[in-house]
Amino acid sequence: MRSYFSAHPAETRELGRRLASRLRPGHLILLSGDLGAGKTCFTQGIATGLGIQGPVQSPTFVLIAEYPDARVPLRHVDLYRLERAEEILSLGLEERLEDGVWVVEWAERFEGYWPADRLEVELREEGEGRRLNFRATGADHQELEDV
Ligand SMILES: Nc1ncnc2c1ncn2[C@@H]1O[C@H](COP(=O)(O)OP(=O)(O)O)[C@@H](O)[C@H]1O
Ligand SMILES: [Mg+2]
Repeated sequence: MRSYFSAHPAETRELGRRLASRLRPGHLILLSGDLGAGKTCFTQGIATGLGIQGPVQSPTFVLIAEYPDARVPLRHVDLYRLERAEEILSLGLEERLEDGVWVVEWAERFEGYWPADRLEVELREEGEGRRLNFRATGADHQELEDV
């Protein structure tokens, strides 16, 4: 586990940008933390780091936003409003995991669903800033803890 402190949204984006430089197809990033913890902000940094231009917002009403034109294609998922676990199947995560990088907000709502090897990033408020804890759960994601 590696722990990072971000004093400002720009620092959170910078952590995402640095993580992006290490990402390869098949990497799965599970983000957890309350509303306003910085999950989307962090994802925006990842998107910038992957060479994605234009706005990246939480895809709350569409479940998934896809950015195919990137150094590594990005799929950004937000499960905040998802009610039934079976709906996750419609994402095609298992079939399409190797096609690009997946970043999932509110992953903790469906804990049993995810592949065993992933990078978990837990975000929470700490004073005026945010604490980001990076924890890889398998060999494929270990190198992503150090940004
Ligand atoms: N250090 C920080 N990192 C990220 N966001 C921060 C930080 N400090 C304050 N904020 C604010 O917290 C909010 C984070 O929003 P967002 O990234 O949409 O959160 P989430 O997707 O987790 O709901 C933004 O309004 C942002 O300006
Ligand atoms: Mg969000």
